[in-house]
Amino acid sequence: MLLILVPLVLFVVSSVCALENGIVGSYNKAIKESLLWGAYRPNAYVGIRPRLPHSLISGLFWFNADDMNSMNSIRHYCDQNLDFQGFGWEHYDPRFGGCQVMRDNELGIDISTDFVKTDDGNWALRVRGTPRKGYETKTISIIYYTSLEGPNSMLASATGYKDEGFPPGQSIKLFGQSMELGGFDLDITDGPSTNVHKRIKKSQMLEPDMNPRMTHYMSLNVPDDNAWKVTDIYGVLLQDSIKQLAEKHHQTSRTPDPSSLFTLRNLNHFEGNLHMVQKFFTGEFEFDIIYNSGESETKITSESIPGLIKETRKKFDDKFETAFDIQEPFNSDTKYTTFAKETFANLLGGIGYYYGDHLVDRHSELNEETYDQIKLDGTLEGPFELFTSCPSRTFFPRGFYWDEGFHLIPMLDYDVDITLEILKSWFDLIDDDGWIAREQILGPEARSKVPEEFQVQSPKIANPPTMMLVFAKLLSKAKEAQDSRGFDSGLEEPEQVLEYGDLDFKDISDAHIKYPELLLDYSEHIYPKLQLHYNWFRKTQKGELDEFDRKPYSNIEAYRWSGRSYTHCLPSGLDDYPRAPVPDLAELNVDLISWMGIMTRAMKEIAQLLGKSEDAAKYQKIEHDIQQNIEDLHWSEDDKAYCDVSVNKHDDDAFFCFKGYVSLFPFLLKQMAPENPHLKDILELISDPEQLFSPYGIRSLSKEDPLYKTGENYWRSPIWYNINYLVLDALRYYATGENGSKLDESTRQLANETYTQLRINLVDNCLDNWSKTGYLFEQYDDVTGSGQRSKHFTGWTALVVSMMKMPPTL
Ligand SMILES: *[C@@H]1O[C@H](CO)[C@@H](O)[C@H](O)[C@H]1NC(C)=O
Ligand SMILES: *[C@@H]1O[C@H](CO)[C@@H](O)[C@H](O)[C@H]1NC(C)=O
Ligand SMILES: *[C@@H]1O[C@H](CO)[C@@H](O)[C@H](O)[C@H]1NC(C)=O
Repeated sequence: MLLILVPLVLFVVSSVCALENGIVGSYNKAIKESLLWGAYRPNAYVGIRPRLPHSLISGLFWFNADDMNSMNSIRHYCDQNLDFQGFGWEHYDPRFGGCQVMRDNELGIDISTDFVKTDDGNWALRVRGTPRKGYETKTISIIYYTSLEGPNSMLASATGYKDEGFPPGQSIKLFGQSMELGGFDLDITDGPSTNVHKRIKKSQMLEPDMNPRMTHYMSLNVPDDNAWKVTDIYGVLLQDSIKQLAEKHHQTSRTPDPSSLFTLRNLNHFEGNLHMVQKFFTGEFEFDIIYNSGESETKITSESIPGLIKETRKKFDDKFETAFDIQEPFNSDTKYTTFAKETFANLLGGIGYYYGDHLVDRHSELNEETYDQIKLDGTLEGPFELFTSCPSRTFFPRGFYWDEGFHLIPMLDYDVDITLEILKSWFDLIDDDGWIAREQILGPEARSKVPEEFQVQSPKIANPPTMMLVFAKLLSKAKEAQDSRGFDSGLEEPEQVLEYGDLDFKDISDAHIKYPELLLDYSEHIYPKLQLHYNWFRKTQKGELDEFDRKPYSNIEAYRWSGRSYTHCLPSGLDDYPRAPVPDLAELNVDLISWMGIMTRAMKEIAQLLGKSEDAAKYQKIEHDIQQNIEDLHWSEDDKAYCDVSVNKHDDDAFFCFKGYVSLFPFLLKQMAPENPHLKDILELISDPEQLFSPYGIRSLSKEDPLYKTGENYWRSPIWYNINYLVLDALRYYATGENGSKLDESTRQLANETYTQLRINLVDNCLDNWSKTGYLFEQYDDVTGSGQRSKHFTGWTALVVSMMKMPPTL
C-alpha cells in the first residue's frame, strides 16, 4: 500500500508544478524547500518540525535526575518564571539554522543546541550541556522525543532493541517513511567518549533495566495532535513504573538512586508513533540528532556538523550585516552588534508553523447598550494553517494580528521573501466576509496556553491593521529598487528571463524585488482578499455622523472601534488607554480613523501597482476624505491635540482628550500633510518631559493626565517600543528634506533634537536591561527604565534593531 502511494503523490505534485510553470512555479518550489524545516515550535525550548500539517515533530526536555521532586520543573515549554539568565538564539535563520543557549541558574547548567540544515533537506541538532562551577557532579536527564503523524507513515528502529537499554557509545538509528517526507533516517548518537554517563552501584537499582548508564527508550501510539503532551505522558509512565516497583520490591533493603527510578523502561520495541530516547549525564556532555532524507546526496554525519555550524554562523553574520548597517553611536562597540544580532535572531526564532481548528462565535451580538462583557460561545472552524512569528515564546506563543505587522518591519529589511510568506499566510485566513481573527489559537497545543474565556474569537471585533504598514513599505522598497535600476515604466514590464526553470533562488532573499513578476503575481493573489478585508473594516467599524448632526468635510469617513467596554477597548490594541468614560454609539476614535487612512493608502498603492487605475482613484479620494475628516472631527484647538469624540451628558458633541499615544496617531501614521500647522503642537507634546518625553522613551500617557499611572497602568504610562518606533519613523518623515523645510526653523530643530535623543534613550535602556537580565521586555517603566510584564518579549520590542539602523540625526 505504502509503496504504491508514494510515487502516485510524487506524480501528482510534479504535474501540478508543471502547470504552475514559469518563474512563479520555480520560486514556489524553492521557498518551500528552503523553509521546510525550522524551529517552528517556538513555545518549546527546542522544537523542530516541517511546515507540513501532520508530520515529524521533534523536541527535547530535561531535568535534574538527582531529585525526585524535579518532575515538577521539567524544562520543555518556555517558562518565564524559571530562574534562567535568559535563553534564546545567538544566531538563527529558518533557512539555514542557528545556535540557541538556555542559561539555567537553578540547575547550574547551560544547555546549547546548534541546529543546522543543508540545501538538500537534511538537518541536525547538536546538543551540549556545560555545567557551571560546583554543579559538575549533578545528574541531568535529557530526553529526545519524536513523533510522526499522518496516515500511512511509520518510524521504526534500524538498530533493533535491547531490553536493558543501549550501552555507552552506541547510536540509535531510526528509519521512517511518510507521504510528504518520503524515506528518511534519524540517528540519535551517543556523542564523544568524553561523555560521562551516570554510574551507580548495582545495589542502587531495583531492576537490571534501570541502569542510568545506558540509553533508555520507550515508544507509544498516541492520537495525532497529542504528542505535545509528552512530558505529561512521561509523568504517567513514571508513576506506573514506580507503582509496579513498589509492589514487587516492597520488602527490599536497597535504596534506589533517583536517576534509576527516572528511567524509561525500554518497552514496545520502537513500535508506535511517539518515541522517546533518554540519557543521563554527569558533567559536560554532547550528542547529536541527525535527520537525513532518503533522496539527499550528501548525508550529515557527526563529523560534518562542526563545519556546518561554522558555515551557519557565517551566513547569518553576513546576511545580518548586509541588512542592518548599524549607525552611530551604536557602531563603535561590539556590545551593540551582539545585542542587535541576538535580538533579531530571537525575533526570527519566534517564527512558528501552526495547524488546527479554532473557536469562533458568529452569532452573539455585541452588547452596545449596556456595554457589559458578553460571553462568547464558540464553535470549531478549520483546520487552518498559519506561518507567523509570535510576541513572546514564553507568554504569547501564537499569532497576533496587531503585533505581526511590527514584527515584519525589521524582517522586511532582512528577508523580503520570508516576510511575504508570513503576510500571505495571514491574508489567506481572511474569510468570505473579510474578517481575520485577531488572535490565532490554532489546534489543541496552542489552546492549552490560553484561558478558556479568551479562546473564542468574534467576527465583529477588529484590531489595528498593522500588516498594511508592511505591505506599503515593501511596495516603496520595490519602487526604489526599480528607480535605481532605471526602469521608466511600471512594474508590469518585468525583466524578461526566458528559462525560468534554470533560475537558482539559493542565497536570494529578495526574489520579489529582483523579479517584479513575482511581486505582481503575489499582489494579484492577495488583492481580492485585501479588498474584502478593507471593506469589512469600513462596514463593521463605521462611526455615526448624520445621527448626531455632524457635518465634516466628508459625510462618510468616521470610525468607532466596536466591542469596547467601560474599562477597556481591547480591539484598539491599547486595552486600558483612557477613552470617553461612558461608551456610546456616538463615539469616534482618532486612532482608528488614522489606521483606516494608512490602510486606504496601502490599498491605493497596490491598485496602482496592478494597474487598476479606477480602484486607485477611488482609494485616493477616500484617503483624502479621511485626512480632511481627521482635522474636522478630531482636532481640538483648546487641547492642541487630536482627540476621540463622543457626546456629553447633554448629548452634545465633545472631545475626550487624554494626551498620549492615541493623540499622536494622525502623526504616527502619516495622515497629516507636511504643511499641517498642528505638527508644531504635536512635536511640542512629544518632546515635553512634563508630558510624554522620558529618559527611556516616549511614555504612553502624559504625566499631566489625571489618569497617569492609574488602574492597571498597562497603557497609562509605560513605554512601548512599537509606538516609539512609529514616533522615530514619523519624525524622520516630517522633519527631513522637502517636508522638513515646511516646518519653521525652531520646530525642525526641536524635531531633530527629540529624534536624536529619543533613539539613544530607547536603544541604551533596552540594551542595559538585557545585559543585566538576559531578556527583552513587553514594556518599560517610564520612571526607572526597568523592563516589566512579559519577559523574552522579542516580538515588537525587537524593533530596537531597526532603530539602531536609523540615521543618528535628522
Ligand atoms: C514627505 O511627505 C510626502 C507626502 O507629502 C511623502 O511622500 C514623502 O515620502 C515625505 N518625505 C520623506 C523624506 O519622508
Ligand atoms: C541635527 O542635529 C545634529 C546635532 O545634534 C546636527 O549635527 C545636524 O546638523 C542637525 N540637522 C539639521 C538639518 O539641522
Ligand atoms: C533597566 O535599565 C535602567 C537604566 O537604563 C536601570 O535603571 C534598570 O535597573 C534596568 N532594569 C533592570 C531590571 O535591569
